Formats: sequence, structure tokens, C-alpha cells
Amino acid sequence: MKETKFEFNYKVYDSIEELPEQEQWLLNEAREVTANAYAPYSHFQVGAVARLVNGEIITGSNQENASFPVGLCAERVLLASASSVFPRVPVDVMAISYKGEGHASDHPISPCGICRQSLQEFESRLGHPIKLILGGMTGPVYVIDNAKALLPLAFTSEELR
Ligand code: THU
Repeated sequence: MKETKFEFNYKVYDSIEELPEQEQWLLNEAREVTANAYAPYSHFQVGAVARLVNGEIITGSNQENASFPVGLCAERVLLASASSVFPRVPVDVMAISYKGEGHASDHPISPCGICRQSLQEFESRLGHPIKLILGGMTGPVYVIDNAKALLPLAFTSEELR
């Protein structure tokens, strides 16, 4: 028997002001697009904004449904949109923020398990890491260099070859 370990490094900034200007802009946009969420059931609005390697900006927000499992997270709405409008163009960086009735938005949230699976496949099929910038409306910001780091031992398309 051999025990192994998985670890990854990420950056923790005390506030948005510490980020480089382009990343500040993206996170502020993600904060703004929370307003586009359709979240009448959870009252938890998530906004995501990405810059593609060709410089284009794509946004996403969570879109819920009365049949709850039908709902989509902001991250997957964004990835589907990016892939539809600019097929085969990698996402370079994605900022994610949120706000919600009765929830403080003073710390980062990170993508759910399904979104991690989608993010890692998007990265691997286009051969480009997606940098994640995670932050609330206020408070600290996490920067993760690639989404794959969030999904150790992922099930990937390799298994289906
Ligand atoms: N949600 C996202 O859009 N992204 C996340 O990273 C976590 C959760 C959405 C799904 C649902 O509409 C609401 O937030 C509450 O779970």
C-alpha cells in the first residue's frame, strides 16, 4: 500500500483592489451580471464573466426552473454560450461572483461538482487552462490557475477511448 496526496496552490487576495486591473474588471463584471440570473427559487444569484483567448467577453448567470434539476449554474451557462458563439476558442479566465437574499456576499464561492466536471473537460478539449477568479461582492478573492485542480481523480474522456 502506498498513500499519495493531492494538493494545489491558489492565491488569496484580501480584496479586489489587490488584483491586476484586468482581473478587477472581470470580477466587477461578474458581480454585475448576477442581476441577470433567473433564480426565483433559491434567491441565490450567480454571475460569471469570461475572457476568451481571442479577447471576446462572454457572460453567464444561473437559470433556474420550477422543475429544480433543470436549473443551470452560471458557469455552465457561460461555457455553453462560449462554445456556441466561438466554437473551439479557449476560455482564458473566468470570474465568478454571487449575491442572495439573506446571504452575506463577503467571501468567495467555488464551482459546484457538476461545473467542475464541465470546466475540466472544456480545458482539456481546448488544451488551455481556465484561470478562475472567485469573489463575493466584498471580501477576499481566490485565484486558481486552472479549473482542473478543483477536480482530483476526474472521470475524463480518456476513459471512453
Ligand atoms: N449556482 C451557480 O450558478 N454556480 C455555483 O457555482 C453554485 C450554485 C446556482 C445554482 C442554483 O441556481 C443556485 O446557485 C443555488 O444553488
